[in-house]
Amino acid sequence: MAFKKILIGGGTGFIGQHLGEMLSKTNYRVVNVSRMPSANAISWTAVESGSIGHAHAVVNLAGQQTMDFTRRWTAGFKQNVRNSRVFTTKSLAAAINKSNDKPKVFVVVTGVGAYEPSETKKYNESSPSTGKDFFSRLCVEWEAAAKVDPPVRLVIIRSGVVLGRDGGMVKNMILPFFFGLGGPLGSGKQYLPWIHVEDLCRLITFAIENDEVNGILNGVAPQVITNGEFTQAFAKALSRPAFLPAPEFVLNLLLNEERAMLMTKGQHVTPKRVLDYGFKYKYDNIDAACKECAHLFPNK
Ligand SMILES: NC(=O)c1ccc[n+]([C@@H]2O[C@H](COP(=O)([O-])OP(=O)(O)OC[C@H]3O[C@@H](n4cnc5c(N)ncnc54)[C@H](OP(=O)(O)O)[C@@H]3O)[C@@H](O)[C@H]2O)c1
Repeated sequence: MAFKKILIGGGTGFIGQHLGEMLSKTNYRVVNVSRMPSANAISWTAVESGSIGHAHAVVNLAGQQTMDFTRRWTAGFKQNVRNSRVFTTKSLAAAINKSNDKPKVFVVVTGVGAYEPSETKKYNESSPSTGKDFFSRLCVEWEAAAKVDPPVRLVIIRSGVVLGRDGGMVKNMILPFFFGLGGPLGSGKQYLPWIHVEDLCRLITFAIENDEVNGILNGVAPQVITNGEFTQAFAKALSRPAFLPAPEFVLNLLLNEERAMLMTKGQHVTPKRVLDYGFKYKYDNIDAACKECAHLFPNK
């Protein structure tokens, strides 16, 4: 069997490792693009010089972790958050456009931060991304960087918070919740668009494998919940109480208001186009998703 090569920028991260594992179980061979090149990973310099080889699909998951609490929200760190997304996406798009042996599809995972946080507005993929905050503006620039020429398909997945035991929000929350110190963030009334990591990787694979899929997809589960509802589901899955709220002003003080808004503000986002394409979720409700990922020890 001839294996098809999938090139993944940032494939060493939380989502990338899950995706690589999922793809490698079928007829794909994964090569990452990493700042630490290895037997299975090429460098960003190689991409900049145009050598992406013969790839069936290219995916970008690279990006400096925004919620790295060891890093202060300084101008330099913000620049890093921006550049690691915009420049890597631009480099991959330029290499694809230059290539004589083009991939079929370029999939870029951005965020629902593209939509302005609101407790009243409702967004689907046809809603405009007109927000004025740092993350809305970043998403606009990030997605604009993904410009590839036809016939290469471009699929942009605006992901919600990705739930999985070994990364992202769950990894940060598991210990405090396990010790009964969890609770809603801010008012708890803000929406929390979410997706289980397995469904996000299945959606990326769906985008790679289905020629009719293109454009923006909201990478969120169809069930819309608030932060308070998530807190209850997560605590229930861990059999712990979750009575200790983290007040918004404390989060603003600790993390900087601009960054804390990722937790204290939210958007009502539905995956209209994803459902129209016929994608089937494995985790379409938050109780099932939390049951899978809310346990102290990772499975691996
Ligand atoms: N996790 C979520 O809840 C979530 C939600 C919405 C959107 N997203 C987006 O999805 C993408 C992947 O998320 P993730 O949770 O898998 O992130 P992650 O675990 O932090 O991994 C991202 C990867 O990006 C690379 N990277 C980090 N800093 C970089 C820099 N300064 N320059 C270039 N590359 C850098 C790293 O690869 P190397 O060390 O190998 O270079 C890292 O493994 C990110 O762009 C993120 O914004 C994530």
